[in-house]
Formats: sequence, C-alpha cells, structure tokens
Amino acid sequence: MKAMEWTIGWWRVSLQRVYPTVSQLSQTYDKASFQWHEHLRLLGYCHAYRKLWQSLKDANVLPHWQDNLKICDCGIGTAAFSLAFAQTIDPKTQITGVDISPQMLKIAHQKLSQTNISHQIYQRDVRSLPFADECFDGVISAHVLEHLPNPEQGLKEIVRVLRPGAPLIIAVTQPKFIGRLIQWHWGNSCFSQKELSELMYEVGLINLKFFPFPVGLTRLTSFVGIGFKN
Ligand SMILES: C[S@@+](CC[C@H](N)C(=O)[O-])C[C@H]1O[C@@H](n2cnc3c(N)ncnc32)[C@H](O)[C@@H]1O
Repeated sequence: MKAMEWTIGWWRVSLQRVYPTVSQLSQTYDKASFQWHEHLRLLGYCHAYRKLWQSLKDANVLPHWQDNLKICDCGIGTAAFSLAFAQTIDPKTQITGVDISPQMLKIAHQKLSQTNISHQIYQRDVRSLPFADECFDGVISAHVLEHLPNPEQGLKEIVRVLRPGAPLIIAVTQPKFIGRLIQWHWGNSCFSQKELSELMYEVGLINLKFFPFPVGLTRLTSFVGIGFKN
C-alpha cells in the first residue's frame, strides 16, 4: 500500500491509509446493523437496487437463468441487494448470504424469512468462502469490495465459486464527492470504472460491462460492473 509523502523543508510528511481489521469492521457493522436497513430505505437505496435489477433485466445483460437459481450475495448486510434481486428477477432464487457481521446476518435472515425467500447465511470473510468451486449461478455484491485491503484476493475467491459462464454483478462506490465523504466516514476505498475493470479483467472475468444506477442518490455514489467467468 503506497503512502503519500511530502518533503517540507527538513520534514517529511507521510499519509497512509489504515484498514480496520476484520474484527473491528465486524463490530462497526454490528453497531450499525440496527439502523442500516431503515437508512438504506430512507436514502433510496432499496428502491434503487430494485430499479437497477429491472434495468439490467430490460437491457438483456443477465443470463437466461433456469429455475432453482443459486445466487451468492457476498457482504449481504441486511439483504437489501438480495431482496431486490429476488423480488425483481426470480422470487424462487436460493440466496446464500455471506458477511463478517453477525448482527447484519441476523437481520438479513429476518428480512429474507419475512419475504419467504429461500436462503442460507454464513458468517465468513469473502476472501475465504466455505463453498465448493463453481457452485453458484451468479454472485452479487454491493459495496463490499471497498472494504478489502486487497480487492483482487476477494475477487479471485468470488470467481472460484462461480460456474463457468456465470456472472459477477458488483456495485462499488465511485471516487466522486459523495463517495469521498462515505470513504472518510467508513474508511472504505472507492473505484473508478477503469480500476474496477482492470481488477475484474485480472481475475479472469470477461465480457465486462458497466452501468450507472438508474435512480436517486446511488447515481452519485455508486456504479455497477458485470463480468462473466470464462
Ligand atoms: C456497506 S455494507 C453493504 C451491505 C449490503 N451489501 C448493502 O448493500 O446494504 C458492507 C457489508 O460488507 C460486510 N463486509 C465487510 N468486509 C467483509 C468481508 N471481508 N467479508 C464479508 N463481509 C464483509 C460488512 O459487514 C457489511 O455488512
């Protein structure tokens, strides 16, 4: 991780980002979990997630999935991205949610149960998924890659569990004004389209496409990348 350095007279000033440990991050999200879903709803993220899935479906960029769809949501949080997926794409989807925060997972379980969405949840780091190779029809992930000190490692592990031809659909924070404010508060990274594209390409994803969020505040904070396992 590169530090920024300036030499001023006889002084060298150095600025380097420090990532929280998994345990610190898990505690931070445990604390945030009680308000998280309501904040997402008030800020328009739940609506924007649904609109995003609808627009991807309309644009014909998603595969023609069969029944018994198995989707893994990496960093599922309170399941907002998964709920929007199941409600828009296929309510019979089997969701497998992974997160490091037990409290986020507890709420994800409640939300998915209330809406009768078949699911399993795992308290795990996305960099070490407890699943066999090539077992999912798709992986979805919203605003999680930004928390990994080595995002390539996380993406490699995600690609491992994708079936050949299956997509990764990933939403990330972009390095614009609001993204930078979020970064200041949560200590996450931001990605430009070029940076995300290079990362996805390096881990072997192909047919990359990038989309803005269609509505609301998310248009300013985030964008989405899609890539398929070769
Ligand atoms: C910004 S929240 C996004 C949650 C959800 N995807 C959403 O859109 O509301 C980031 C989530 O990623 C989880 N997370 C962060 N680092 C993780 C890691 N290494 N492995 C698994 N989950 C992680 C956090 O606990 C948190 O629930």
